[in-house]
Amino acid sequence: MISDPWVFAISYEELIEGTFHPVYPKGLNVLLAKLDDQIYAVINKCAHMACTLSSGTLNGSIVTCACHDWRYDLKDGSFIDTAEIRLRTFNTKKEDDNIYILLEGAS
Ligand code: FES
Repeated sequence: MISDPWVFAISYEELIEGTFHPVYPKGLNVLLAKLDDQIYAVINKCAHMACTLSSGTLNGSIVTCACHDWRYDLKDGSFIDTAEIRLRTFNTKKEDDNIYILLEGAS
């Protein structure tokens, strides 16, 4: 049996514009953000010492980790201060007023 790689994350209305929200599709800790009506998804774990990014602050598309102030762009997972570090990102889709995350083949 082949399982659907798109996994329900949250209702579209529950995710407030300009904010982020942790979700747990299939137990994976993912940070979702709605920015300019676009949905972005990254792993909710800082690449430094694994603090949850949802404990940090959001300024535009930039999330600042609460532990030691590392900063990432939620639009592509990039670390602001060097190109070598990038958060795992996930494709998302909106369907029937819900947001789904593609877990299969995630980068
Ligand atoms: S754990 Fe995020 S900056 Fe250190």
